[in-house]
Amino acid sequence: MALKFPDGFLWGTATASYQIEGAVHTDGRGESIWDRFSHTPGKIENGDTGDVACDHYHRYAEDIRLMADLGTPAYRLSIAWPRVLPAGKGQINEAGLAFYDRLIDELCKAGIVPFVTLYHWDLPQALQDEGGWLRRETSDHYAHYVDIVTRRLGDRVKNWITFNEPLCIADLGHALGVHAPGHVDPSYAEAAHVSHHVNLGHGKAVSIIRANVPGAHVGIVLNMAPIHAASDTEEDRAAARRFDGVTNRWYADPLFKGEYPADILALRGQAVPDIQPGDMQLIAAPLDFLGINYYTRSLVQNAPDAPGQLKLVRPPNAEFTAMGWEVYPDGLRELLVRVHRDYQPKALYVTENGCALPDALDESGHVHDPRRIAYLRSHFAAAHRAIREGVPLKGYFIWTLMDNFEWAYGYSKRFGIAYVDFPSQRRIPKDSFHFYQGVIRTNAVPE
Ligand code: FCB
Repeated sequence: MALKFPDGFLWGTATASYQIEGAVHTDGRGESIWDRFSHTPGKIENGDTGDVACDHYHRYAEDIRLMADLGTPAYRLSIAWPRVLPAGKGQINEAGLAFYDRLIDELCKAGIVPFVTLYHWDLPQALQDEGGWLRRETSDHYAHYVDIVTRRLGDRVKNWITFNEPLCIADLGHALGVHAPGHVDPSYAEAAHVSHHVNLGHGKAVSIIRANVPGAHVGIVLNMAPIHAASDTEEDRAAARRFDGVTNRWYADPLFKGEYPADILALRGQAVPDIQPGDMQLIAAPLDFLGINYYTRSLVQNAPDAPGQLKLVRPPNAEFTAMGWEVYPDGLRELLVRVHRDYQPKALYVTENGCALPDALDESGHVHDPRRIAYLRSHFAAAHRAIREGVPLKGYFIWTLMDNFEWAYGYSKRFGIAYVDFPSQRRIPKDSFHFYQGVIRTNAVPE
């Protein structure tokens, strides 16, 4: 039996500005921390940068035709802050705003509902030079930027996402150093400050968006994962709980409970945020939805000598994607059910899910990606089970529309359902694109 989804379920694809737009010097765009980071030798695989990426800045109309052909009712995109405010504050760049105007108009013409992420990691470098997210003031600059963008686009855009994956901004950018701005700080003190300032920016943005956009639907996107203990021992279970604390609860608790988890505050010692009166109320402003990015689960083992006294282990006999991530579809159901139970967001969306595989064009110019089709099919089925278990899941966005700049991995990882031949910039729908077309058309997953 085909798995039928609820009427009105929103199917979409997701992208992010720096990963697809290119045109980094065009029409007055300012430098972002990802321009700086990707141009720093040794940071990105093969020395790749987002300078050209998918050249979406010039090819957006063609890309929207691709989405129309796919038949998706929704599209999640992000706005590049340095296009709007090249120095992060001060002078507005009209040409940058005009680009997003055209993009949104074109989506509306195609009948595609935009979900706009206001921050998908491309902080203006000028603000980084002043301390970036380590400074509390950056949350005010962010709020100002949000005000400008939502005033301009709020007549047509109703679905707003304040931030993409605060965990990656904090931990990958300011503890592990693998994302911009590339700070390495094993104490996690920087990450703690950054996550709090991002949360403050989020809280400030929520009321601004509501004031500027009649009928706004406001949310945030967290990357979350089910955390499993590698064994049933007390030590491994405690390690799994710690890892759940630093990856899931650290981000979701402030938003939905107005507090940081006590066990993690205790664990981090001095490396905790500087919380001012009123901060937590602001951060816990009611939301209309929570977006979840789900890729895999984590399997955790106690390891007294390792950082955080734990290590992640590879499950035996599992299937892995080109990212080395385990394919674990039921984790999506488990996570959605858990988030619904523990946090009760009014609505949930899967705002990213997908896989990187070593896709290649064959002699006849096709890309056969049966493993991606299997991945998607099994994750759609998991989402369907979550809905049956009572989760208010309203939509699902595939990561991603087309192959693009995959951050530290550059162009070496292909997540798209359309293949991009980067030298010619041709988009070639993969088999999974056609599979998804059928799912969208029937609002059901075939047997
Ligand atoms: C997520 C990011 C997204 C993409 C996927 C693979 O963490 O939000 O931009 O790179 O991973």
